[in-house]
Amino acid sequence: MGQVKKLQEEIIRLKREKDILILAHYYQRPEVQDIADFVGDSLELSREASTAAQGTILFCGVTFMAEIAKILSPQKTVLIPYPLAGCLLADMAHPQEVAEAKRSHPNAKVVAYVNTYAQVKALSDIICTSANAKMVMEKIPGEEIIFLPDRNLGAYHAKTLNKKVALWDGHCPVHQRITWEPIERVKKAHPQALIIVHPECPPEVTDRADFVGSTSQLVRFAEASDAQQFIVGTEEGTLHQMKKRAPEKTFLLPEPHPICDQMKMITLDRVYKSIKENIYQVEVDEEVRIQAGEAIRRMLSL
Ligand code: 13P
Ligand code: SF4
Repeated sequence: MGQVKKLQEEIIRLKREKDILILAHYYQRPEVQDIADFVGDSLELSREASTAAQGTILFCGVTFMAEIAKILSPQKTVLIPYPLAGCLLADMAHPQEVAEAKRSHPNAKVVAYVNTYAQVKALSDIICTSANAKMVMEKIPGEEIIFLPDRNLGAYHAKTLNKKVALWDGHCPVHQRITWEPIERVKKAHPQALIIVHPECPPEVTDRADFVGSTSQLVRFAEASDAQQFIVGTEEGTLHQMKKRAPEKTFLLPEPHPICDQMKMITLDRVYKSIKENIYQVEVDEEVRIQAGEAIRRMLSL
């Protein structure tokens, strides 16, 4: 038996023995996705974390995702295999800057993308994910919004809204590097392929794509579509689930392949150490947790 298979079996044995729920984001390494009880996008993972029956959740993703599990289930132990797996987009909104923006837009509601740290969520009126951003922006009462931190996602929806939207100057470096030219090159070689992309991509890409959606929406679209070939504008890990669900279809990535190094910091070895030694426990300051929890629950209740 190969080393990877052996480690996977040992992790699965330990999660059963210790009654631990393993959650993984689509951007995780394929061998990590395969030991998870549930693989999903940010919205689905927060829902799954909030309803988990197990006393311990092991979160294979970046730290803001594990924080959400702890915020929604403070009585549970939440583990992350590598606590330095941050999100470069979340790093672009500092709580002090957010407090300042609120002062200069006193009538605006703060809609924070889920890719933010707990302290920023605590300063926000409501949270959204890439799967529900449009609906959240529409439903939040008031005519003025500060949308943070992803400028591309905010701009993509702001153009269809009848509200004043102040966009934060942040972006995900992984998606910002997905530009139109390399996609067009793949399209020329595969003219039948549909272009499906994440809304964190720049407008030159989202404006010309056949479908724009969250990671789960992209996976479901590819599975349900009659098309046989897809050019995928998001992190490469997503292709693992696409290929599993539609093995007969072809999934292509533009060059250079979009890879989130932060997500890839979660390795199978680190998952094993985490489940064996109960490390690293995620903690959130209680006052921050209560305020951030209100903003997340407002989203979940919509
Ligand atoms: P999803 O909400 O689509 O899972 O995306 C999260 C993310 O980090 C995108 O870069
Ligand atoms: Fe953050 Fe971008 Fe990585 Fe998503 S892909 S976790 S937004 S750095």
